[in-house]
Amino acid sequence: MLNLLYKRRSIRKYKTTKLDSGTVQLLIKAALLSPSSRGFQPWQFVVVDDIEVLSLLASSKKGAGFLKDAALGIVILADPTKSDVWVEDASIAATILHLTAESLGLGSCWIQIRERQATETETAEQYVQRILGIPENLKVVSIISIGYPDEFKPPHLDGVLGFDKVHMNKYGAKY
Ligand SMILES: Cc1cc2nc3c(=O)[nH]c(=O)nc-3n(C[C@H](O)[C@H](O)[C@H](O)COP(=O)(O)O)c2cc1C
Repeated sequence: MLNLLYKRRSIRKYKTTKLDSGTVQLLIKAALLSPSSRGFQPWQFVVVDDIEVLSLLASSKKGAGFLKDAALGIVILADPTKSDVWVEDASIAATILHLTAESLGLGSCWIQIRERQATETETAEQYVQRILGIPENLKVVSIISIGYPDEFKPPHLDGVLGFDKVHMNKYGAKY
């Protein structure tokens, strides 16, 4: 696990290779295995592998353009009526997807949708809801783009970890 955490980077360049259905299934299983508050599982997922739909989603906001070249985008939704901590639950599922992708030799990146704008008059959430036909009551948290990596990023190093943000027994006391 630690090795995976050091190696995991946000990958935004992908090969054109498609994912086989077994690999997609493993990713979905991983997301569905995520913990959630009181086991309420308020999430829903839209798995997108259609190139045209991926291209449309790539315009959901600035900083999402690379989604058009991904093999897959998994849209993370949550139902606020099912849990008061839907943001946490959905974010944990998204993180587990991101890490599972790494464990399968895939590259992936979190694309933030919640609280972001598509245009001055449309939120990124409304845009994604419109493109995918998602009902208004379901919140769009993020999209995880996934594909075989076509870029290399060096792993994280101990030297740049933010140990200054860690406190011992009392806030402000050095760890
Ligand atoms: C909540 C969250 C939102 C993010 N939103 C975006 C995004 O919209 N577009 C993007 O390219 N990267 C996004 N990222 C990826 C971060 O930019 C990236 O994790 C960070 O720069 C650290 O780099 P690393 O993942 O390679 O360690 C997001 C990451 C998180 C956790």
